[in-house]
Amino acid sequence: MSEKHYDINYLQNSRRLLLTLKEASYNYFEKINSGTIIDLGCGAGKDVIELAKIVGNDTKVIGIDHDPVMLEQGKTDAKDLPNVAFILSEAYPLQFGSETIAGLRTERVVQHLKEPQKVINEIARILKPGSPFVIIETDWHSLSFYTPFADTQQKINAYLTNQKVNNGFAARKLTNYLKQSNFKDIKFEIHPFILGTLEEANQYLWVQKMAQETAEKGFITTQEYEEFYNALQQADTGGYFACSINLVVATCIK
Ligand SMILES: C[S@@+](CC[C@H](N)C(=O)[O-])C[C@H]1O[C@@H](n2cnc3c(N)ncnc32)[C@H](O)[C@@H]1O
Repeated sequence: MSEKHYDINYLQNSRRLLLTLKEASYNYFEKINSGTIIDLGCGAGKDVIELAKIVGNDTKVIGIDHDPVMLEQGKTDAKDLPNVAFILSEAYPLQFGSETIAGLRTERVVQHLKEPQKVINEIARILKPGSPFVIIETDWHSLSFYTPFADTQQKINAYLTNQKVNNGFAARKLTNYLKQSNFKDIKFEIHPFILGTLEEANQYLWVQKMAQETAEKGFITTQEYEEFYNALQQADTGGYFACSINLVVATCIK
């Protein structure tokens, strides 16, 4: 099994890049003034905390994640907030009764799920009719570097989408999952993110680490890695480095 491509530090860095997208996602829940909202796969809980401040104390925001280290960080950061709780759990099954939850968001999680449709069906089960559901996903297949080494880039993308995460094409399948679970009013947005320096690309996407890992696992040769990464460094030094990746947002109503 490959190493995870995120840790608490990565989530903090990528948060800066994704802040506008994250804040827009909170808006779907701002009118909820009672009951429970869930952030599924909440990581270190920053979105749980920000959402809890927006909805006010009469609405509880619960962060769910299967990583106890992430949740400990969330608990420490949220200790003064009365309307926040964290639950250590897998995404399936969810320990809530049918039609009991007022809203749910899940960000960069569906890509990790081995049985995504089962989890989306479970979310449909626990949400009250009329409640909002927001998914943010990374479209790993859209990752683009502007180097002449297009073959190497394709192999790195194939490694990321087919090997690194369980469900690398999640972003492209979201609307279908939602349709299968009978969600209504499905909307879909694409948000391109452009990184103008190699330092940013390494900070937000761990580019060097991922390219090195692709070589270590044998999906590209060491020579291909070196040519590719040297080209990125040269572009950076020359002031014409460019890299882009799409994040997608799917929203719907139960
Ligand atoms: C890339 S992180 C995103 C964290 C957070 N949503 C954010 O945007 O900062 C993915 C999170 O999903 C959690 N996760 C992955 N698969 C899960 C599963 N099957 N059940 C529960 N949590 C899961 C991981 O532990 C991790 O914290």
